[in-house]
Amino acid sequence: MALHKNTSLIRFLLSEKRIIRLNPFRFHQIQPRFCKFVNMKEVVVSGIRPTGKLHLGNYFGALKNFLRLQQQFDSYFFIADYHSLTTHPTPGDLSASVKRVLAEYIALGLDPEQCTIYFQSDLPETAELYLFLNMNAYLGELERVTSFKEKARTQPNNINAGLLTYPVLMAADILLHRGIKVPVGKDQEQHLEMARTFANRFNRLYNNEYFPEPQAFSFEQNLVKVPGLTGTGKMSKSAGEADTIYLDEEASVLNKKIMRAVSDSGPSEPGAPKSVPVQNLFDLMGLVSATDTIQFFEDSHKAGNIRYGDFKKQLAADMEIFIAPLRDKIQTTLGDEKRLNEIAKFGAEKARASAQKTIREVREIIGFSNR
Ligand code: TYM
Repeated sequence: MALHKNTSLIRFLLSEKRIIRLNPFRFHQIQPRFCKFVNMKEVVVSGIRPTGKLHLGNYFGALKNFLRLQQQFDSYFFIADYHSLTTHPTPGDLSASVKRVLAEYIALGLDPEQCTIYFQSDLPETAELYLFLNMNAYLGELERVTSFKEKARTQPNNINAGLLTYPVLMAADILLHRGIKVPVGKDQEQHLEMARTFANRFNRLYNNEYFPEPQAFSFEQNLVKVPGLTGTGKMSKSAGEADTIYLDEEASVLNKKIMRAVSDSGPSEPGAPKSVPVQNLFDLMGLVSATDTIQFFEDSHKAGNIRYGDFKKQLAADMEIFIAPLRDKIQTTLGDEKRLNEIAKFGAEKARASAQKTIREVREIIGFSNR
């Protein structure tokens, strides 16, 4: 049942109570904005592309929030393997990367009993919803998306249709479970805006408030952007090895990367503002170091006598304290293939139930009869 805009809250609550009494499995059809009145959990959805090992950006932008959200909400966390096809991985690389991200999810604390963990490609319903949403996604708006323009610039020989409609596939992932909270880093903000556009457009077209408006979410005040080590921007797999700190980085490699990170020639005078690469290193320190350590280096930068060698050594030491337990857990989990397969199967079944229900309802709304 979907509610029309003008339905009053009282009438709504009364009718939902009747539905709940008759059929508890229809509980999650309640419009998200009314969840708080009937003590329901909002739906959380997010995913990560399997394009390599997970890094600090993935952790602080996304996973750290997943870990808290799984305890409080009805959460779906998936591995976005359809999305990774835009760069044409070999079958071998794809299946290894997909397993790796699953192992990393589990090693870092996602609990298959608390949330639903699955591979995107285990839900072909995603592709069906993607098709429906594509009918209302327009070339002009897709061409204006920053990530598309950036990819078109950096890979001119592979500007495929999947890249263009990437935000539509993302919207399908979210709307397939009628997700509201979408824990992502800052770089995904525009994609979430598009997801809202596609959800609203569908609702308007069929005069049916079926899809909620998904919002990017973080427990921090703002969406997070973790900078890379080369001073150029956000940490990213595509920016290269020297830019990225992986969550299972070996201690010696970690140390080398940080000691070689881009800085500058030092503050020109006391009180001089920090350059962008130096601010980036301070931002990284802010993620893993103690407050008094950060304050010490802030003060010495302000005084103009900071020694970047000491600063980086401290950052490398604190980073190693953060990474060491993750590295061990990732290694152990990766070796337990049987458990990982069981988790993937269990998660796919749970996710499929939600996806099939949405697709059935969407088909009805569109005018296809469900046979
Ligand atoms: P992906 O795989 O590029 O990144 C996964 C998550 O990690 C966050 N992230 C960062 N956050 C802060 N600083 C960084 N340097 C950094 N690098 C990565 C991303 O913001 C993201 O949250 N399109 C998505 C995957 C996806 C998805 C979805 C997400 C597919 N469908 C539906 C949410 C909902 C992507 O490519 O993320």
